[in-house]
Amino acid sequence: MRRRAVLRMLASSPVLAFAEVAGLVPVDNLLAQSTAPDVELALTAAPGEIPLLRGTPTHVWRFTGQLVRGATSTLQNLESSFLGPVIRLRRGQRVRIRFRNRLDEPSIVHWHGLDVPELADGHPRFAVARGAEYVYDFEVTNRAGAYWYHPHPHMRTAAQVYQGLAGLLLVSDSEEDALGLPSGEGELLCVLQDRRFDSNNQLVYASAAASGGMRAGRGRGRMGGMAQMMETMNGWLGDRMLVNGHVQPTVDVNRRTYRVRLLNASNARFYKLAWSDGSSMTVIGGDGGLLETARAQRTVTLAPAQRADVLLDLSSHARGSEVRLQSLAFPAADVGRGGMMGETSPLPQGAALTLMTLRVSGTQGPRFRLPDRLSTHDFHEAPRAPVRRVPLTFMQMNWFIDGRVFDMQDVADVETVSPGSTHIWEFVNQPGPMGMAMAHPLHLHGPQFRVLSRTGGMPNALRDGIADAGWTDTVLVLPGETVRIQVTFSKHQGLYLYHCHILEHEDMGMMRNFRIRS
Ligand code: C2O
Ligand code: CU
Ligand code: CU
Repeated sequence: MRRRAVLRMLASSPVLAFAEVAGLVPVDNLLAQSTAPDVELALTAAPGEIPLLRGTPTHVWRFTGQLVRGATSTLQNLESSFLGPVIRLRRGQRVRIRFRNRLDEPSIVHWHGLDVPELADGHPRFAVARGAEYVYDFEVTNRAGAYWYHPHPHMRTAAQVYQGLAGLLLVSDSEEDALGLPSGEGELLCVLQDRRFDSNNQLVYASAAASGGMRAGRGRGRMGGMAQMMETMNGWLGDRMLVNGHVQPTVDVNRRTYRVRLLNASNARFYKLAWSDGSSMTVIGGDGGLLETARAQRTVTLAPAQRADVLLDLSSHARGSEVRLQSLAFPAADVGRGGMMGETSPLPQGAALTLMTLRVSGTQGPRFRLPDRLSTHDFHEAPRAPVRRVPLTFMQMNWFIDGRVFDMQDVADVETVSPGSTHIWEFVNQPGPMGMAMAHPLHLHGPQFRVLSRTGGMPNALRDGIADAGWTDTVLVLPGETVRIQVTFSKHQGLYLYHCHILEHEDMGMMRNFRIRS
């Protein structure tokens, strides 16, 4: 039986409590009644099975998509992958997405990196129960870039993403078109994740404690309470690397230039990416699309939720040669240090990893000539913008943002801003009384922002690969660092989120609302 969820929510009405909205309240998404969209999709989250490892198939949860209206290129299914379809949109399109929840628990989808109206942002208070539907209506106002989508239910985001619920959302626009970047077979989409499997090929995830504390245990892997709690504090790591849902794949490539679009969709793992043959990582874009000019880097640091757009020129590689995408070794302490940061996972942060192998064929393809200028950013520093200091701390066995943890409806005065206003937020990542500090990728819902400065901290092997140059929605704040961002908040009013994108931290409450209100 399918209930159509109807949300009655006027801009001024009080926020409903989670229990009231978890699919129990009929939803009448007022925006859904607007004129016909350019693109309409149905996106269903449901349990499924995927042949992932040799032998028994793996139970996963996955998004499947159906195109209702729009170009057939809008949805691209990844072959035998648990990842959701790649959704390709164009700037300016009006989009309607019907999300159907076929899971046994509440869920809601968030479009990570998109600047959308409050009702389309996937706040946990909009989670719908099994059988219910939530309709999203928004216009794509973002620049061309690699965004993504994943669930965002209260205290269950980490578990749901881990079970397989995530997908890429690629936006294109005329500025990007004009560059003639490698596309089609010249575009390699790489969603990076790590997972742990049991001997029967099933995903292993922490039970109760690791997925949000108070809930009844749902996970399959059972461990001692203490070890599990520590893994939650540190973020849950897998010991097998997956690209696009495949374990360490080998991909046949031609002798040409590739546009490699990387997304770190791992719950908690940080990558220090490099090509095994020493080819440079030619970075042309980040979270919020193209940089103004390309940057040649030896490594690219990708924290959870971050994206990188990289060119790889294989045109003069020998036939039969192999290039591996690797994560170089770095000290685990560069992600977390002090206190109880022990080695609790089978494959710790900073372990050297191979993610995938590119095998070069003899076929010659086009070589891309990098232009001097990729894009022009409409960005101006606002030295007189109000500055808010935002300490990131560990206390009472929990992670705090500015001394607070998540509450479904709570917004502090300092978290209230007016539409379109520009602010400087200064994230301060200082070790607390227990001497514990971790790297936190801080994510703001809504518009892309800029990194103004990064100061303090100890020498850190991840720092080299950080590209703070462009628009971003997730900024990595290393232990001991102070990172200043400048953000111009959305013109859309409402309640939005900012949080650490180590998903276990987010579910533990390292997340807060901010309110945009005139
Ligand atoms: Cu990618 Cu609030 O999340
Ligand atoms: Cu987001
Ligand atoms: Cu964190």
